[in-house]
Amino acid sequence: MIIAIDGPAGAGKSTVAKALANRLGFHYLDSGAMYRGVALRSLKAAQRNAAELASELRIELVGPLVLIDGRDVTAEIRAPEVSERASQIAADPAVRAALVPLQRQLVASGDWVAEGRDIGTVVAPHAELKVFLTASAQARAHRRGDESPASIAARDERDTTRADSPLREAPDAQVIDTTDLTIDEVVVRIAALAASLETAR
Ligand code: DC
Repeated sequence: MIIAIDGPAGAGKSTVAKALANRLGFHYLDSGAMYRGVALRSLKAAQRNAAELASELRIELVGPLVLIDGRDVTAEIRAPEVSERASQIAADPAVRAALVPLQRQLVASGDWVAEGRDIGTVVAPHAELKVFLTASAQARAHRRGDESPASIAARDERDTTRADSPLREAPDAQVIDTTDLTIDEVVVRIAALAASLETAR
């Protein structure tokens, strides 16, 4: 089974997706880590083309750890300048064309909780369960304490208005507003949706 979790920055995707994967014993795919990995390399090699860097990306997602070329970059890819650059390079269709096949390959076998912006619409439109998490702008800014509300708004604007695979809920996604919910409440809700699908199968 694939559970696709999409939504804007700060809606709780990563925390919820990780906890849900743990609870269900599913693999966890953080697709944003791939865009961040390309962004990190692009910041370090400004003269290189981002799509080329994406096609060469040697990324391993080992549980919660992100390794690039065998080096642990888990903390480094969360830096604000990497977030900003990731949102920029994610708008490049050639970058997406390099990364989406890697994501599809990963989720092709086994049970996955995959999170990002286009999992339910592009990467795995066949996912059995699609969830779109939202939250008020205020709650999202509060959760992303290290990032200014203006910077989050700029990223959201770029992620939702880009031509290629913009952040958008799939028509068949279950929308959950997490503003007034705890992580656990969201996880329990999605797990219940997954369980009802399992019994219906
Ligand atoms: O989820 P995140 O904040 O780690 O994602 C970093 C950036 O990557 C975000 O600005 C949008 C982009 N992204 C994307 O375009 N498609 C995905 N599936 C995941 C992330």
